[in-house]
This record gives sequence, structure tokens and C-alpha cells, in this order.
Amino acid sequence: MHAAFYERTGPAAEVLQLAEVPTPTPGAGQVRVHLRWSGVNPSDVKSRAGLRSQAMPFPQVIPHSDGMGVIDAVGPGVTEARIGERVWVWNAAWGRPFGTAADYVVLPQRQAVALPEATPDEAGACLGIPALTALHTMRMAGGVEGKRVLVAGGAGAVGHYAIQFARLLGARQVIATVSSAQKAQIAREAGAGVVIDYRHEDVAARVREATEGRGVDRIVEVDIAANARLDLSVLRPGGECVVYGSGQGEFTLPFFPLIANNVSLHFFIVYHLADEDRRAAEAILHEALAAGRLVHRIDERLPLAQIAQAHEKVERGEAVGNVVLRVGNEH
Ligand SMILES: NC(=O)c1ccc[n+]([C@@H]2O[C@H](COP(=O)([O-])OP(=O)(O)OC[C@H]3O[C@@H](n4cnc5c(N)ncnc54)[C@H](OP(=O)(O)O)[C@@H]3O)[C@@H](O)[C@H]2O)c1
Repeated sequence: MHAAFYERTGPAAEVLQLAEVPTPTPGAGQVRVHLRWSGVNPSDVKSRAGLRSQAMPFPQVIPHSDGMGVIDAVGPGVTEARIGERVWVWNAAWGRPFGTAADYVVLPQRQAVALPEATPDEAGACLGIPALTALHTMRMAGGVEGKRVLVAGGAGAVGHYAIQFARLLGARQVIATVSSAQKAQIAREAGAGVVIDYRHEDVAARVREATEGRGVDRIVEVDIAANARLDLSVLRPGGECVVYGSGQGEFTLPFFPLIANNVSLHFFIVYHLADEDRRAAEAILHEALAAGRLVHRIDERLPLAQIAQAHEKVERGEAVGNVVLRVGNEH
């Protein structure tokens, strides 16, 4: 099969290669997915760049955890009824050498989930990381029903879904920060009632005004290192800050305001969702997908041959939404 892979970490254009590799065969409990789309996430880019560890976890890595395709073969113990099923896949490249930047991927059957008919193929490659991360930020720690929620970076791949899930799960108010007029429009269309340009406006003053001085109940944070102090100043006493990203490896927070205000800080990585959280999130996600209630923001569709350009775009933070690669046979 045709695949993109790397055998050492480093810059995209230097380490990503395209070549024919053996087509995998599903083992017991596994399915093989003939892929159509492969999603590129910041996490895939950081792993390839060697930002987590310069050492290779496996001698050869086919990148990308997210993808969409059709099951074309099953291993022992998996019903043949699954052959022909349109699926989205999760964690394909997490702790495994073979991700979705290829014609085929073999996975435990639980990691290939039936895609609702109403959902476009490309969107299936945006669910495993962006949509499920966004949904978990809203479900965890008691949910958001009746709450005032601030989504930092509301036009990001995760942020855009986060605004939509906040609305779907009953948040009373959704405020988003963005950095441009184009991104403000995207956040507003996703359902944010208040949108603040964090580069040009006084975010704390705008949040205070929008919440009649109360502050928000929950912050969903894309960059805790940049925004930790701001977050403390706009969170109501007893509120929670749910952190899913950071622009720097370390950050500091003052102890006394945290304790005096009963602030809760939560961190999570979507790769390690507990099984019950994953199943509950999938049920909500699928209901929203089947009802056509989610808008997917695909920034760019590129052929697999342009994987290095796709990585570079995500790396530079220039994608406004998801970048997906066309894989498998021409379609
Ligand atoms: N914990 C997890 O499981 C998990 C899952 C998915 C992603 N992540 C991490 O979360 C981050 C975002 O992922 P993504 O796929 O959504 O990336 P993305 O599509 O590039 O979105 C990031 C968004 O955040 C905005 N932003 C950047 N710095 C900001 C700041 N200081 N304040 C407010 N907004 C800011 C960006 O726009 P501007 O630069 O124009 O402001 C952009 O809209 C990455 O670091 C990724 O690794 C973690």
C-alpha cells in the first residue's frame, strides 16, 4: 500500500517519506480500514518534530491518529457484517506505529466506529481528537448545563467544536476569544454569544461586563501558559478551568488566589479517556452527527503527497480548522 512515514524525528520536509509498504492483515479482534481521509492534528506534528521525545518510539512511524474510511477486512472474532461499514477511527497512531497516513490501517475493532450516514466523509477524520476533546471539556467535572463558559481560541479545531458542544449541552452563556475578525465570525456562527479579540481588547473587562461582574463558571483553555493569570481574573469563585493545551512546557500560578477562590484546575489528554467517558461522549457525538447539528470546519483538503506542507501549516498555527489528507484510492 501507499503510505507516508518517518524513521527519525525532525522537520517535516526532511523526515517525511512516501513509499510502498506492505498492506497489513487484521489479526484477532481487529479490522482493516481502507482509508479515505487522514486528519492532521498538532499532536501528530509535535510527535514527528520530536518535541515530546527525539527518540523514535518505533523504527518506522506512519503518522496521524484520526481518519475515516471503510472496513474491508476483519480478523478472527470480528463479525463479517462489519465489512463495508463507513467508520471513523481514533488513537491510530497513539502508542502504535501505524497511523492513518496510508491506504489502510489495522486497528482493534473498538477503535473503528460506525460513522452516521449524514456525516460527510472528511468530517470523519476530525472526530477522534478535535471533536472528542471539545466534547470532553464540556462533559467533565459536572458538565456545563446552566453555566457561563469561556472558550479560549474559539476558532481553533477544538475550540470551534467546543463552542458548539457548550450550546448543545445547555450552557447558559458562551464567550469565546479569537485573534481576528475572520475568527470572530467563525466563533459567532458556531454559537458564541460574546466574542472577544484577545489581541486588541481587554479580555478581563469584556468578560466582567458580559457576566455582570460575576465571572465565568468554566474556562476551556487552549494555552494555559499564556492565559493562566487572565483565567484567574475572569473565573468566578468555585469555578473550574479545564486545560487541554499549553503553548509552553511550564507555567506558574499564584497560590493564594487559587485557594482563596476554591479554583479547580483540570487537565486531560483525549488519548487517555476512560472507557466510560469515551462511550458516553461517542453517544452524544453520534446523536449530534445523526441530527446534522454539528458544523465541521475543514480548512484544507490535500493529497497525501503534500503531507509535509500539511504538517508545516499546522505547525505554524495557520490552519483555521482541520487539515485533512486524501488517502486510499483516488476518490
Ligand atoms: N488535551 C488533549 O487531548 C488535546 C486534544 C487536542 C488538541 N490539544 C492541544 O490543543 C492545542 C490546540 O489544538 P487545535 O487542534 O485546536 O489547534 P488549532 O486548530 O491550531 O487551534 C488553536 C487555536 O487557539 C488559538 N490560540 C492560540 N494561542 C491562543 C491564546 N493565547 N489565547 C487564545 N487563543 C489562542 C489559535 O488562534 P490564534 O493563534 O489566531 O489566536 C487557534 O484558533 C494544541 O496545543 C494541541 O496539541 C490537546
